[in-house]
Amino acid sequence: MGNPIAVSTKDLSRTAYDHLWMHFTRMSSYENAPVPTIVRGEGTYIYDDKGKKYLDGLAGLFVVQAGHGRRELAEVAAKQAADLAFFPIWSYAHPKAVELAERLAHYAPGDLNKVFFTTGGGEAVETAWKLAKQYHKLTGNHTKYKVISRAVAYHGTPQGALSITGLPALKAPFEPLVPGAHKVPNTNIYRAPSHAHADDPVAFGRWAADQIEQEILFEGPETVAAVFLEPVQNAGGCFPPPPGYFQRVREICDKYGVLLVSDEVICAFGRLGTMFACDKFGYVPDIITCAKGMTSGYSPIGAAIVSDRIAEPFYKGDNTFLHGYTFGGHPVSAAVGLANLDLFEREGLNQHVLDNEANFLQTLQKLHDLPIVGDVRGNGFFYGIELVKDKATKESFTDEESERVLYGFVSKKLFEYGLYCRADDRGDPVIQLSPPLIADQSTFDEIEGIVRQVLTEAWTKI
Ligand SMILES: Cc1ncc(COP(=O)(O)O)c(C=O)c1O
Repeated sequence: MGNPIAVSTKDLSRTAYDHLWMHFTRMSSYENAPVPTIVRGEGTYIYDDKGKKYLDGLAGLFVVQAGHGRRELAEVAAKQAADLAFFPIWSYAHPKAVELAERLAHYAPGDLNKVFFTTGGGEAVETAWKLAKQYHKLTGNHTKYKVISRAVAYHGTPQGALSITGLPALKAPFEPLVPGAHKVPNTNIYRAPSHAHADDPVAFGRWAADQIEQEILFEGPETVAAVFLEPVQNAGGCFPPPPGYFQRVREICDKYGVLLVSDEVICAFGRLGTMFACDKFGYVPDIITCAKGMTSGYSPIGAAIVSDRIAEPFYKGDNTFLHGYTFGGHPVSAAVGLANLDLFEREGLNQHVLDNEANFLQTLQKLHDLPIVGDVRGNGFFYGIELVKDKATKESFTDEESERVLYGFVSKKLFEYGLYCRADDRGDPVIQLSPPLIADQSTFDEIEGIVRQVLTEAWTKI
């Protein structure tokens, strides 16, 4: 039984350890160490419970596009909660869900005009797979249920989305998962196999896309429902698509009647300088999944944005997509989403990213003079720095070194020196950077300075 005054009489960090089961967190590491507790944000900075300031180098979790402390978004949320805090979109509509759906359809390319709201990204991915399966059933292709995605890619934690995820260690505790999820190589050109034309991005792109065709043929085109790809793959450390990659994937999907799902949970809403990232790379998917930046995190929401062509059979007779979430398209989140997109327009956030992405990349590329920096890659305001033990051979770290240096040292020191970001070893070890979209040269310099200091020290620990 809880004591209602427990929090106020105990140290917040201890109470966090006692009661707050943190996500993707090794809880034992906080048994004798304080849980970092963030209480406030302003612009590109966040502040902990001791008043210490940190640069938010990850926009929370690829979320806070407009930056922290935007009063107008908070006020819109309060007003909407007062007008209509909740109503479901199960056979009913409310104005803000309608307006936001229309706005998303306006930004989305091609005939992607139908918006199915969720509360987050994993639910959007889950929705897209179920939708793809039922679409094929409704159009007479009863055996098309499988999905293809890429090695090391992260697509969320619901069991379907987790099956699509290409990180075996994340899945192992929950196997068996949903059957029919197959993997192909990703577009990590830095670690491309020797037969994959790593010296020629166009040929490499062709090779990587053709792996999808090979997999479709291997499984049988009559069994494959959809391909799920991020425009720039996050896990593994920001793999942009090689030139021509998505054009070739589109061709392949069309040839075999396979839906192309662009998982833009990270890449949409300005992360790459466009509302939807498929626009930046010039392809039109059948479904876009998105979430995170839609509200800049001021309230949670996600969506699967579906083409008219795919939606059409669902709009006929008694056909129904038997799927939904109580909080999908929540009125407060929808209102905040609209206000956030207004803010994007008013402040020209996308253009700001396009104008500054080259400067961000150049600033991070200065780190190449450090022996531990193997590769710096990414797009927009979304970069990964891959760490290596030997630049010439690209030798990576052993599990023990990764644990000791990356988890035990780099992560902690970055935070200690005032940079919140993420050191990730789900693939090869990388530092992930994705600041709020209001970041400027001073932000890039501050990031570079702290990363340089920490990586210089880390090199002495190997
Ligand atoms: C590409 C991608 N898809 C799906 C998800 C899952 O989103 P959520 O955590 O909102 O469920 C994420 C989360 O980071 C993601 O990066």
